[in-house]
Amino acid sequence: MTAPEPVLWQDQAPHSSRFSDIYRTRYGALAQSRSVFLAGCGLPEGWRGRPQFTVLETGFGLGLNFLTTWATWQADPQACARLNFVSVEAYPVHLDDILRSTLALSTEAGGCATDFATRLPALAQQLAPVWPTLQPGLNHWPLDQGRVQLTLAVGDVRAMLPQWPGLADAVYLDGFSPARNPDMWCDATLGAVAQHCRPGTRLASYTVAAQVRHGLSALGFQVRKCPGLPPKRDRLEAVMC
Ligand SMILES: C[S@@+](CC[C@H](N)C(=O)[O-])C[C@H]1O[C@@H](n2cnc3c(N)ncnc32)[C@H](O)[C@@H]1O
Repeated sequence: MTAPEPVLWQDQAPHSSRFSDIYRTRYGALAQSRSVFLAGCGLPEGWRGRPQFTVLETGFGLGLNFLTTWATWQADPQACARLNFVSVEAYPVHLDDILRSTLALSTEAGGCATDFATRLPALAQQLAPVWPTLQPGLNHWPLDQGRVQLTLAVGDVRAMLPQWPGLADAVYLDGFSPARNPDMWCDATLGAVAQHCRPGTRLASYTVAAQVRHGLSALGFQVRKCPGLPPKRDRLEAVMC
């Protein structure tokens, strides 16, 4: 495996010099993850009453969305028996940065998020045995006694998405801002995502960029601009028709 992608920590905000962008918002990142991605895809309600549920994500980054989804699933007595989480990442970071990220969140988060946030470092630690085995291509890791399956597709999103053969129940579109990282949001990427969607697949993103909304609409998604969790003004929800 190539060297881990460096993460610059500036005032507790993880920053990418490759993309000149932050991995997550400086304040309230956990609440934003839950609001934009989980609630945006109708979770946790959406996985109830199903034997399994599959989330597809573009951009694993520091694993915040994955760990938040896993912790939410663990805490839900009505959750599906099995959670599959598939994420694509071209530039995996060092596990230490993932751990550091969760520790920062568990001290940053205030109010009702605190109990939840303090569970994330222990989940991140469960990646320790598998993270050193990371290889380019598809990595399949059973976690949580095999009830959670993490598939990490290491490589460029446009090359990796066609290599994963599955269908998603929910899609998290993440991946730095469209202005700074157009490849992650171009028609080819959105088209490759749509190949993994069926009628009813929910999709969520923090960006409401017109190009992304129009691209998704052209692919058969019904797209809505929704009110964001302050200080964010908007977020995007979509469903494949
Ligand atoms: C904003 S971060 C994702 C944050 C992540 N979802 C989380 O919960 O921590 C965006 C990620 O997309 C990855 N990325 C950017 N361009 C990519 C590409 N063309 N193919 C695959 N991954 C890419 C970056 O390396 C970065 O880790």
